[in-house]
Amino acid sequence: MSEQLTNEELIQVAREFGTPVYVYNADKIEQQYHKLRGAFGSERVKIFYAAKALTNLSVLRFIKKLGANVDCSSINEVKLALQAGFEPSRILYTSNGIHFTEIEEALQLGVFVNIDSLFNLQKLGAQYGNKYPVGVRLRPNIMAGGNLKISTGHDKSKFGIPVEQLDQLLEIVKKYNIRIRNLHIHTGSDIKDAAVFVKGIEVLFDIIPHFPYLQSVDLGGGFKVAYKEGDPVIDVEALAQKVLTEFDAHETARRLEIWFEPGKFMVSEAGYLITSVNLIKETSATTFVSVNSGFNHLIRPMFYDAYHRISNITNPSGPVKAYSVVGNICETDTFAWERPLPEVREGDLLVFYNAGAYGYEMASTFNSRFRPAEVIVYKGNAQLIRKRDTLDDLTRNQVVVDL
Ligand code: LLP
Repeated sequence: MSEQLTNEELIQVAREFGTPVYVYNADKIEQQYHKLRGAFGSERVKIFYAAKALTNLSVLRFIKKLGANVDCSSINEVKLALQAGFEPSRILYTSNGIHFTEIEEALQLGVFVNIDSLFNLQKLGAQYGNKYPVGVRLRPNIMAGGNLKISTGHDKSKFGIPVEQLDQLLEIVKKYNIRIRNLHIHTGSDIKDAAVFVKGIEVLFDIIPHFPYLQSVDLGGGFKVAYKEGDPVIDVEALAQKVLTEFDAHETARRLEIWFEPGKFMVSEAGYLITSVNLIKETSATTFVSVNSGFNHLIRPMFYDAYHRISNITNPSGPVKAYSVVGNICETDTFAWERPLPEVREGDLLVFYNAGAYGYEMASTFNSRFRPAEVIVYKGNAQLIRKRDTLDDLTRNQVVVDL
């Protein structure tokens, strides 16, 4: 079982399935899940994989087999989780900004829902009284995460019910006798500091006594993984120890379950995007390397200024030069500016690492280019889990009319 796929394995996948291609190392996903389970040990901690990071059905089925539950962010993710074989009782739907009908649909499917607005909580009460126990997503007013775009718990964030509206929340709960089973917070992505979770727990523990039906507290996801050598990461052992100690210190009669929703931690490092070099362009400013990809396939560098490690796997020991790696779409799609790489030639394979989370999932067909194929490798065996798009995929839902 390898932590990383080797250059030879990646080259073999590119030969067999072509490029651009997303490759996922299932052994690594398994290791990450076991690392979490090992750290939290305790029965009271439940892991819900945040499906939004990567929803391929084969990946979901594998994660189910590992024993994890799943957290969804849309009704379609709920349906994919069901298709992947998750029982409704293992599916959580943490909604945000959705129309009430989507909440109804999820509840009717037997899925547990975290509601993130007073608006929808009021609707739930008015229409269903106390028929469905639910969770509520709170906004704890904590600034956390790698950058503002992925910070979700601060006092200007759209997510959750602001904690300062607790009175209004309790009024609705009381009026309809709604059974609140779970309190949820998620403060952001790329959180490296366990103290953020402790802060969240402190906010929640002030509120918990108001909720007699509570069975769990959901601390969301956001565990930071390494995107580059020496990158600070969250220490899940230390996190587990801090969180469990904090719960022991606060708890009186009720022993609540503790839920987490990791996305990146589970799949980021397991993923690779393999591209091939179309051309090299020398200019007075820089040497561009253009690959057969772009922000249509991996948008994180352009959207979040995210750093992704890149390597030239077909010429790993060539003389190192600085290259600006760009895509082939008709936008400024710079993956990296002046990145030192072993000499790059036409046809070389450039690999982008940490492409498992929010890679394929945020891909589009911009410029009418095809989304890549997806391949999974488990115990040395590579299998296609999604074909590359074809022209038919681009036109499938179009209705051509003569005007
Ligand atoms: N739970 C909730 C309610 C979330 O909103 C998210 C992520 C997660 C869990 C999982 O967070 P993770 O463990 O993956 O950090 N596209 C951005 C990240 C946005 C995350 C959105 N919510 C990126 O590529 O950095």
